[in-house]
Amino acid sequence: MNTIPVIAIDGPTASGKGSVAHRVAQTLGGWSVLDSGALYRLTALAALRRGIAADDAWALARTAGSLDVHFHNECIFLEGEDATDAIRQEEVGNMASRIAGYPDLRQALLERQRAFRVAPGLVADGRDMGTIVFPDAPLKVFLVAAPEARAQRRHKQLIDKGISANIDDLLQDLRARDARDMQRAVAPLKPAEDARVLDSSFLTLEQTVQAVLKMWKEISAA
Ligand code: DC
Repeated sequence: MNTIPVIAIDGPTASGKGSVAHRVAQTLGGWSVLDSGALYRLTALAALRRGIAADDAWALARTAGSLDVHFHNECIFLEGEDATDAIRQEEVGNMASRIAGYPDLRQALLERQRAFRVAPGLVADGRDMGTIVFPDAPLKVFLVAAPEARAQRRHKQLIDKGISANIDDLLQDLRARDARDMQRAVAPLKPAEDARVLDSSFLTLEQTVQAVLKMWKEISAA
């Protein structure tokens, strides 16, 4: 049995999982963070750059298995090149969502994800952290927010980065991605049976972080 604690934070796209995960890990003091979506996005980016088609499941699984990636603080490197911003492009996110349904690709990323579990603990965010990757995580949070709230947040993020964006297009994209993530046969987005659902539609980032920390306090004191 692995006794290193994991806080799994799953939820739909743009629910704020990533920011919450980093803040929770920081507050707990030196915990690692796994942004599992980044691995799917990196696979998508590598595939787009190599001209691999979205329906070539075999080549995509091979790409996932041989990814040369490196995480440093909040930066992500692909083959030695900083890909932190490149993987956030909508085109890459859409490709990631499309290819994430392939079982061999998911399998290729599984051990890579579990290797992030190091002392003193891990905060892992994604879609299947609580259900598949870390089913023994002592705390599983399913973070949700209304699609409109998520589209607003994504819009603000993009505008802050100087990337132009249309809120209606974002909302449409986000709904399509939700549907794909929830309806796929393999590791669909759904709360683990023992997950706690947290709705952040009307919470600030700080309030959401505090809510997760409170849950962790309760669990670790029990
Ligand atoms: O969390 P994100 O938006 O960066 O993830 C990008 C895509 O990767 C998402 O649409 C679905 C996929 N994904 C997944 O299938 N399983 C995970 N654990 C994380 C992400």
